[in-house]
Formats: sequence, C-alpha cells, structure tokens
Amino acid sequence: MDTIINKFPNLIHGCDYNPEQWLNYPEILKKDIELMKEAKINCVSLGIFSWSTLQPQEDVFNLDWLEDIIDNLYKNGIYTILATPSGAMPNWLTQKYPEVMQMDSNRVRHLPGKRHNFCMSSPVFKEKIRILDEKLAQRFANHKGVILWHISNEFGNNSTDGSCHCPLCQEEFRKFLKEKYKTLDNLNHAWWSTFWSHTYTDWSQIESPAPQGETWLHGLTLDWKRFTSKQLLKSYKHEVEAVKKYNPNLPVTANMMDFFEPVNCYDFAKYVDIVSWDSYPNWNQSKDNVDVAVSTSAMHSIFRSLKKQPFLLMESTPSLVNWKPINTQKRPDIHMLSSMQAIAHGSNSVQYFQWRKSRGSFEKFHGSVVGHKGTNDTREYLGVKAVGERLSNLPKGIYNTVNKSKVAIIFDWENWWAINDTMGPTENMGYVQTMLEHYKAFWNMGINVDIIDMEQDFSDYKLVIAPMTYMLKENFAKCVREFVDNGNTYVTTYWSGIVNETDLCFLGGFPGLISDVLGVCEEEIDATTQDINNSINYNGKDYFTKNICDVIHTTTAQVLGQYNDDYYKGCPAVTKNIYGKGRAYYIASKNEENFYNDFYKDIVKELDITPCIDTTLPYGVTVNKRCGEKDFYFLQNYNQTPAKISLDDKYTNVETNEMYQNEIEIAGYSCIILTK
Ligand code: GAL
Repeated sequence: MDTIINKFPNLIHGCDYNPEQWLNYPEILKKDIELMKEAKINCVSLGIFSWSTLQPQEDVFNLDWLEDIIDNLYKNGIYTILATPSGAMPNWLTQKYPEVMQMDSNRVRHLPGKRHNFCMSSPVFKEKIRILDEKLAQRFANHKGVILWHISNEFGNNSTDGSCHCPLCQEEFRKFLKEKYKTLDNLNHAWWSTFWSHTYTDWSQIESPAPQGETWLHGLTLDWKRFTSKQLLKSYKHEVEAVKKYNPNLPVTANMMDFFEPVNCYDFAKYVDIVSWDSYPNWNQSKDNVDVAVSTSAMHSIFRSLKKQPFLLMESTPSLVNWKPINTQKRPDIHMLSSMQAIAHGSNSVQYFQWRKSRGSFEKFHGSVVGHKGTNDTREYLGVKAVGERLSNLPKGIYNTVNKSKVAIIFDWENWWAINDTMGPTENMGYVQTMLEHYKAFWNMGINVDIIDMEQDFSDYKLVIAPMTYMLKENFAKCVREFVDNGNTYVTTYWSGIVNETDLCFLGGFPGLISDVLGVCEEEIDATTQDINNSINYNGKDYFTKNICDVIHTTTAQVLGQYNDDYYKGCPAVTKNIYGKGRAYYIASKNEENFYNDFYKDIVKELDITPCIDTTLPYGVTVNKRCGEKDFYFLQNYNQTPAKISLDDKYTNVETNEMYQNEIEIAGYSCIILTK
C-alpha cells in the first residue's frame, strides 16, 4: 500500500467538516463551499461523529445526505477524507445494548453520552459498526472524491485511561495473559506476585487494576496497559477490515495524539497506511514559545519516524481550543508559523478542527475557520486563508519529501508505562521531559532527529541516544551491543537497564544487560531536592544537576565528568567507553539544559554530524530539511523579534526567488523556505 494519497498527490489544506449539524440550514451549506474555496480548502474530513444521522434507528440507514455532500464538494474541487463514525455512539444503540458502553476502573458502567467510549470487546458493538462501515464502504470506497479512510477518532481518548474494565474485557484480558504466559506459575513469577502474598491460583482471580483493588503490582499494571493498547488496535483493525472489503487500495489512517500514554503509537503505525496526528500545543501561554515549539517538533518527529514517511497533520486549531484550563488565542503569525512547522517536519497537510463552529453543545466555543458570525473577515478565517494561499503556491517538489537523520532518540511506550507506574526515586521521573531535554540540544543546532522505540531497527544511524531506558528489552540490548561494536555511538543515562520486560529487576548489577558495553556499574541512585542539590564538572565547566544523581563506578569506561559535592564528590558523572569499534556514553545525572547543549555539540563534532545548515543558530531558531530531488530548508524563528543567521552556502527563497549568501534575516515568528 502506498504511503501517499494517489488520488490527490498535493499538499492538503483541510478541516473537520460536520455538515450533519447543518442539514436544515441549506444556505449555510451553500456558503460553506464558497468560503472553503476562498480559503483554498482542498479537502475535508467528513462523518467523524455522524452515526446517528447515518443510522437514525437500528434498521434505518440514511447515507444519501452524505453522498450529496461528497458529490458537491468534489464538484467544487474539494476532496474527502471519509471517517467511520465509531467515535461516538447513538442513543438507540446504548439504550438497547448497554454492553457497548465502557466500564471505568471502579467498575461503574458509563451511561449514554460523551465519546470514544465504546467497549472494545463487545460483540454487539463490533457487529453494529461493521454493518455501518460496510455500507459506507460499499457506497463511497470507490468514489473519485474520497481519498482516505479516517478510522474512528482518536482511539482511546475517553477522558480516563482509554481502557474498559467490563466483564467482557476482563475475560479478554485473561485470554491475553494465558496466551502470553501459558501457565500461572510463569505469570506469578513474571509479576513477582509472592510479594504481599498475592499469588494467583486460578486465572479467574485476575482482575484489571482498580482504585479499590490492585494498582501496585507493576507486572499487572504494565500488562493491562499493553492489553488496552492492543484492544484499541484490534478495534481499529476490525473497522479497517470492513472498509477495505470494497476497495483494498483506498488507504487508511487513524488520527493519533500528542504524547498520549494509553496508545502505543509505534504499534498502531504498523497497521495504518498513512500516519496522521492531532496537534494542540500550548502556544502563547507564556512569553517564550520556544519550549512549546521544541515539544511540538518532537511530536512531529515521532510521527515522521513511525514509518520514515511524510505524515498528515489531521487536526490543529486556527485559534484556540476550549478544553484547557486556560484557552489562549494564537497570537498573530503563530498560526502561520505552527502550520509551516508541520510542513517543515514532513507533513503533507495542514488541517483544522473545525470548519464551522457548532451552534450548541460542548465545542461551540472551540476555534474554527468560520465562526458564529459566518463571515470571511475574521482574524481566524483570514489566518487560515493565508495558510491556504501559501501552501497552494509552494513548489510541487515539496510534496512527499522526507526528512532524513543520522541521529535517533529512543522513546519507548512500554518503557514509559513502566516508568510511570514504578515507585522510584522521585514521584515524577519525567520520561517525556527528559527525552525533550536531549531532543532540544539537537533542535538548537538545527540537526533533524528521528524518534523511535526499542523495537525499530536503528543500525543505520550514527548516533543513538536512549535516555532513561529503565526497561531494557533483551533484543534491544543485543542490538545496542552490535551497534556499538560496529563503530557507532550510543548515549544513555541514569535510570537505565533496571528491569526486564515484566518489570523484574536485573540481578547482577545495573545497567543490566549492557553494563559491559557502557563500562560502568551503578552503586545507588540519589534523588535530590532544591535545597540539597549537586553539580557536575564536565570539560572544565560546572553544571547544576536536577533531582536525579546516579552514583556509579567505572569498570572499563573513561571518566569525562565528576560530581562536585556531597558524599559522591569526585565520583564519575559522565563516562565514555570504547567497545569494539564504537563508543558508549553514560550520563549519570539529570542536568541543566546547558550541559546537553555542550555535551552534544562535542559528540556531533566528534562524529562529524553536520546541521541542516552548517552554522550556529541564534536562540529560538531552528532548521528542518525535507530531502527529495531537491532539498528544502525550513528556517523557523520562534522569537517575536527578527534573527540573523550566517549561511554556509548560496540559497534561494523558494517563494520570492530572492538569493542569499553569507547571511539572512528572518522576521519574528516566521518561517522561510530555501533551496540551494
Ligand atoms: C480532538 C478531537 C476533535 C475535537 C478537538 C478539539 O481531540 O479529535 O474531535 O474535539 O479535539 O480540540
């Protein structure tokens, strides 16, 4: 299956469109088309929450209105990403078949309402959604205007933890465990259930985690998270099977989310043809937007790395959302910059939630392209129109190019789950935050980084950084050994190599299976406070540590940095070990940001890894490169003020044809696209 949309191979400028809310307002539907064309909207996502309009009663189907809408859009040059409507259930379904509604971990079943809350194990639900999906596919899978399936919506985003704890799911969970462990002895050992006398003597005793029950048996909580993510994936696959029956060549996607813990995106990505995600960063919630830009950049990099292919930005807001504690408006220029940021990282689209603000209910104050006023003169509308015009004028060569990288950071969902559950040195070990701190050092240099999990092949990178690999997977450890042995560089940190895949601690010393590759051995780990902190000295400079200090000794590694204070003063804080033809570094403490900047500058210099543009970038400025027949350099300035950048070559601005040599000035909150 192609990873591009063959029917419409262009940059997409689109939005979620909910005409089912406006079927009694024909003048509004007419106006929609007019305003869409003016804003250069070339695609919409349709039908995401249309179940009750498509199937008003169990035995009544009405797809005609949808056909009219799709036909009319297509006639006007607007393509459709067609959703299956399982994101929200109609009342006739929940009333007649209560089993379709999820049960929370406290074992209370949902009442009808809200969304993303169907039971993943319910045979009734599977049957009902299959019938409707097949009807949609029969009618639309071969429609010229339909370019992609959007399966359901944001799997797992049910406002708790994505899971369902009903009796049907308990049974499925036990089945999953039986397949995995075969015997209760194996399970008891893997979960270390003799602790506090919780040995299981019958499979039926196993219950999912519950606030009034078990939440402290880490093997159980970890397997429950694995199970939930797999159940969501199963529901997705069930729908894919239904829609592919009528046209196996129409690609499918599932819109994923920003650091959404319940769903293992790497697992999901194996089964989508095209990766897509919904991005709602906290722009303008503080004066400095740089950290927001970095974390959004990291998320884009994850989604690009899932398939090493361009992805789609499926949703973003043109202005503000309505579900954060504080819903700040995007300031002028931020909407354009954040849209171009997606394109810079390999997105083939900029799309919005939502086209027209709903008149009532939960999202009536959420940002939209067209507001309640219904006109084309609002700041939101004009901002979107400006993006549409810009995208439609970009060189065609950008479409479907990808960013390439010699550096990868490991971010692993199962490791994240394990870290979050464990009773460790501090309450919040901050896996995501830590990954971002390492990522930011590369963002600052303008070096594009892939972000992959422990399952992906990393043999082609030159440098792999694996912060906090608390759960060190056996196969990953084997690959790290080979990777370093073959002449590459591996960097890891404190809180690595501690447990195996069922959260059992390694016996014989941390960092577990690769202690010899790193040439260090951990003695103990200290969690410090603001009052009692430490610092390290690396290359003659001092850096503060932040809450975690690993006390280690070297076996074969060379010491590059040491602690300055306390009873571990003089102990190694940064080490380098030569293993085979390669090198393995260990950073023992969580450090202030400057340390990562300086440390990684040294490493990339040693490995001869060059930034996209070989220059030193000012604060808040970065570069991404999409590589194709021609390379495109996206210079982005996240400062409000202009920035000057020295150039390493001659470049041309692809939009204005201006040529630059030596230096370029980039306006505040803006993005310039260059080629050589
Ligand atoms: C997304 C969701 C959309 C809409 C949006 C609002 O999570 O997919 O349907 O609710 O949030 O920000």
